[in-house]
Amino acid sequence: MKVRYLPVMRGQDDRRRGRPAAHELARYEALFAARTRGMKSSAMREMMALTERPDVISLAGGLPDTSTFAPELYAKLMARVAAESTARALQYGPTEGMAATVSCIVEVMASEDTLVDPSDVIVTTGGQQVIDLVCKALIDPGDVIVAEAPTYPGAVPTFSAYQADVEQIEMDADGMPIDALESTLDRLQAQGRRPKFIYTIPNFHNPAGVTMSLARRHRLVEVARERELLILEDNPYGLLRYEGEALPTLYSLDAAAAGRGGASDLVIYLGTFSKILSPGVRLGWAVAPRPVLEKLNLGKQGADLCSSPVTQMFVAAYFQERDANGQATWLQYVERLRDLYRTRRDAMLEALKEHLGGRASWTQPQGGLFVWATLEGGTDTTDLLARCEGVAFVPGRAAYVDGRSGSSSMRLNFAGVPDTDIREGIRRIGRTMGGDTGLLGTLTGRPIAAASATAAPAESDPASQTDERAPLADVVALPRRESQQPARRQRDL
Ligand SMILES: Cc1ncc(COP(=O)(O)O)c(C=O)c1O
Repeated sequence: MKVRYLPVMRGQDDRRRGRPAAHELARYEALFAARTRGMKSSAMREMMALTERPDVISLAGGLPDTSTFAPELYAKLMARVAAESTARALQYGPTEGMAATVSCIVEVMASEDTLVDPSDVIVTTGGQQVIDLVCKALIDPGDVIVAEAPTYPGAVPTFSAYQADVEQIEMDADGMPIDALESTLDRLQAQGRRPKFIYTIPNFHNPAGVTMSLARRHRLVEVARERELLILEDNPYGLLRYEGEALPTLYSLDAAAAGRGGASDLVIYLGTFSKILSPGVRLGWAVAPRPVLEKLNLGKQGADLCSSPVTQMFVAAYFQERDANGQATWLQYVERLRDLYRTRRDAMLEALKEHLGGRASWTQPQGGLFVWATLEGGTDTTDLLARCEGVAFVPGRAAYVDGRSGSSSMRLNFAGVPDTDIREGIRRIGRTMGGDTGLLGTLTGRPIAAASATAAPAESDPASQTDERAPLADVVALPRRESQQPARRQRDL
């Protein structure tokens, strides 16, 4: 008998080999559901393989800097979970989440001036699962979702997997313009189509880095109420504000408008511990109107029964930590992250000015993790990425459901790597672009202003103390930082 081996028994390393070959796929083609045809990899799987290389500076991932969390505290909290609750931690938990974890969520939301009833909360496996569960509960193939343009690259494959028809609304410095939203809604209404929900990231947008103004928040809630539309408010970054006044959540504005004792009836709120504590705990949450919450719960039962009790108990233990003055440790940590990321944001903005000045425009985020840069002259950032030596970013197309728009833009994460890497990474992009603009000048016959990548190197920046006239491939070797390597292997968000 001829034994046929299926190519699924792969070792750890083999699993990262990349896409299956066409002949491998062909064997399974007839088995795949129709919806898999629209499924896309989140922001370029192949590109992420590139960021595993130690010589590559990744400005691509949506990564916080987990090396800032004290190992002693991690050990202490895990030891406490083990000493007090091993059996519970190792057991299944309730689908809606453990009460102690829900209390932490209520505390986080209260720190954003948003009061929620614990029974309106469901604990999820990351905020990503909320997007998935909301689509699972609301989206039939062809249903409309209204989203911002650009939108969160990690939501794009989810929307595609549920075969949603996504209408993207171009943002400006104040987030989604509500008059443009209303025109879109009018057009859809004329076609007899009612969007299932409006998806928005009001604070320090991923990837755009912009924040929705207060006036627009009020108007968005009004529009949703006038037209009886659901909003999915995705807010991983609200607490990571580096300057300016905090703005109210859409959930709290709608709850006030609903006037029924605090609960919103049109906003599904998405939160996560990923950016204020750790993405590794894989814990997020949704707060939703009861009928929606019920469906999310049913969807979650089918997805994973419950989120990890081990990490839920870890979070609960963490939130009990206080210093000698009774100050909550989790809040102090968020404060530390704010200080660190503020400095890194400033380093990135300075580096952009130095190396891309005159050749690109970029957003000025007041918080969060990302800058969105758009290159002059129509340079395609997917091509640019392929030619960049030793630096990775997310090409703008990943943030558009059509996969074509946003081609001259890129998302740059300033939170996951130290200042020196940020500066060197931007310098490398600038150098590669120097080649581009040179070519553009050759093609158009227009003289291109001296690239800022050739500006005099700053004394204080060791990364720029190199000969700027060296070949493009000449990049500055950075010291290897072991603690950074695992983080770089994460998938992009
Ligand atoms: C806007 C947005 N939503 C949701 C998520 C999902 O995060 P997680 O699943 O780690 O909570 C992210 C992560 O980067 C994000 O940026």
